[in-house]
Amino acid sequence: MSRFANKIVVVTGGTSGIGLAAAKQFIKEGAKVVVTGRSSQSASNAQKELGANAVAILADVTKSADLDGLFRQVREKYGRIDVLYANAGIAKLGSVAETTEEIFDDVLDANFRGAYFTVQKALPLLNDGGAIVFTTSWFDEAGIAGTSAVSASKAALRNLTRTLAAELISRNIRVNAVSPGVIETPLFGKLGIPDADAEELGKALLQQIPAKRFGKPEEVATAVAFLASDDASYITGAELAVDGGRTQL
Ligand SMILES: NC(=O)c1ccc[n+]([C@@H]2O[C@H](COP(=O)([O-])OP(=O)(O)OC[C@H]3O[C@@H](n4cnc5c(N)ncnc54)[C@H](OP(=O)(O)O)[C@@H]3O)[C@@H](O)[C@H]2O)c1
Repeated sequence: MSRFANKIVVVTGGTSGIGLAAAKQFIKEGAKVVVTGRSSQSASNAQKELGANAVAILADVTKSADLDGLFRQVREKYGRIDVLYANAGIAKLGSVAETTEEIFDDVLDANFRGAYFTVQKALPLLNDGGAIVFTTSWFDEAGIAGTSAVSASKAALRNLTRTLAAELISRNIRVNAVSPGVIETPLFGKLGIPDADAEELGKALLQQIPAKRFGKPEEVATAVAFLASDDASYITGAELAVDGGRTQL
């Protein structure tokens, strides 16, 4: 399949987990990909894994200057973007009672503000007829105790998917979101809760998934590629759940 032959794809948070799997999928289908992250170790590992059709760039989506630098490099190297996958995100769990202002700001900055300004700064480079995909979450569908800041950040992103789709339809740029359920990625080790609590959480979550297993990053990646491709040419403003039935059954 070469749905992305000669396409330029930017994947934020493309150095790990779902973003890295998506970058591999885009390259498999012919794209040239730019991946971003914050850690130089992950960026260098991703560069090695992805090979010559990828460029890994360090850029923190919460920092305006980093985003300016990212898109300056993309403009100099490729002159345009065909697909933007705004995926970078973090998950720090905690109830409303427990969440500090610092955690609240970190989560909203990375997951919502970061994605918002990533898109704003990418827009001048984005081709008419291109596509934007966000990563939301099954958290934006329901009230799940202990997920307050992350759930709110993803619900905001869900609405941005619709608003932006309306604003960009005249340029034939489609905007959609993929909504992962529980996916096995390094994110699980970064929840900001003790390992034992994370393990208990994992067991409890497994019980709630109709498919009776966690998802794989590659299963999200193929959905992202679908939404970004011409196969989804009449789909905009939508959110596609990839969650083993968690939100639908
Ligand atoms: N895994 C799940 O179960 C699940 C479920 C629902 C939604 N999601 C969403 O899926 C997306 C990807 O998560 P994942 O599971 O693949 O996690 P992951 O393996 O931890 O990957 C997260 C990626 O985002 C990057 N990132 C984080 N904060 C960033 C920032 N401020 N600026 C730039 N890059 C940043 C990370 O780079 P560094 O490591 O260098 O910081 C990494 O490349 C996130 O938006 C997450 O909320 C995941």
